[in-house]
Amino acid sequence: MKGVRLPRIDKDPELHERLKKYCRISEGEIWTDKINGHKVACLDVSDVNAVQKFFKGEKATLAVHDPPYNMVAFKTTDAEEFVEWSKRWVELTYDLLSENGSLYLWLGADQKNNFSPFPEFILMMRQTNFKSKSFITLRNQRGYGTQKNWMSVRQELLYYTKGTPVFNTEAVYTEIPKAVKGYYKEVNGVMTENLERSKSEFIRAGNVWIDVQQVFHLMEENVSGCFAQKPLKAIERIVKTSSAKGDLVTDFFSHSGTTLLAAEKSGRKCFTIDVDPVYCEISIRRLENFRKYGRIGWGTSNPFEGEIIKDKELQDYLFRKYKIEVTSFL
Ligand SMILES: C[S@@+](CC[C@H](N)C(=O)[O-])C[C@H]1O[C@@H](n2cnc3c(N)ncnc32)[C@H](O)[C@@H]1O
Repeated sequence: MKGVRLPRIDKDPELHERLKKYCRISEGEIWTDKINGHKVACLDVSDVNAVQKFFKGEKATLAVHDPPYNMVAFKTTDAEEFVEWSKRWVELTYDLLSENGSLYLWLGADQKNNFSPFPEFILMMRQTNFKSKSFITLRNQRGYGTQKNWMSVRQELLYYTKGTPVFNTEAVYTEIPKAVKGYYKEVNGVMTENLERSKSEFIRAGNVWIDVQQVFHLMEENVSGCFAQKPLKAIERIVKTSSAKGDLVTDFFSHSGTTLLAAEKSGRKCFTIDVDPVYCEISIRRLENFRKYGRIGWGTSNPFEGEIIKDKELQDYLFRKYKIEVTSFL
């Protein structure tokens, strides 16, 4: 069904309802993967008891969270309210991490609104037991606001630790060859330059990631219907660097299931959560789609392609509302 891309599901309550009936779990339920032990739970992360029960005493080595701000459940841009809410699931994350663990947090900064909620958030983090470790910037290829301002091409990623977690330096290299010679240093009485001393012919990602393509609709990894998908390459880098094979990785805001897929691809186990059953279902399907076809997304199609082919009412709806002619793609 090439060509049937779903519109943003969060913006269309009727479409959301129509897709909900194809979801295998609903609020409060858990899906368990029989092959590698991943789990997807449809929970509100503010429900501390429910999340703790979901983990059943297991501890994660790594948490990768991409919370909603001014989206879905959060219809407010009130930074203080957002941060107060965040503190609860950040502290819960601390409890659910093993003695030595890492926390990565994707967080926006609204440049039109005093970079909210970034300052409030990092101040809140000071009150927790996490130790700040790095402030990474992912450079987007596409930007906005270019006419009267510097084009905004950044995404902020905060890295915090608990104890002394694993940090696999072999996973931090990009595919960009080292080109510039320099950084001369004497080693055992011999003057050496950077390339001679280095362990790799490629440059490290460092804390400014310039080699990750933001997801857009023509890419295979695109999951249409979603609106906040993070690039798989970025999450895989985090997973490979900050956990070991067989470790448990968690993501409290699954959405398109990027962390679940990254964990599957790199031999880790993932417990992930989303408050919305439709995104839980999409996450599960993304894993299944990868296992069955080796595909990391749906490109120009969508996760519900199988149902849309059969559901005449849904086809009519997509045509009425979006002029999407499903039959022309069958
Ligand atoms: C920014 S998206 C995450 C995107 C994800 N990193 C990806 O690559 O697809 C945030 C997700 O959090 C979910 N969410 C919102 N409030 C939540 C809550 N209270 N508990 C759990 N999930 C929630 C939303 O339904 C949404 O799917």
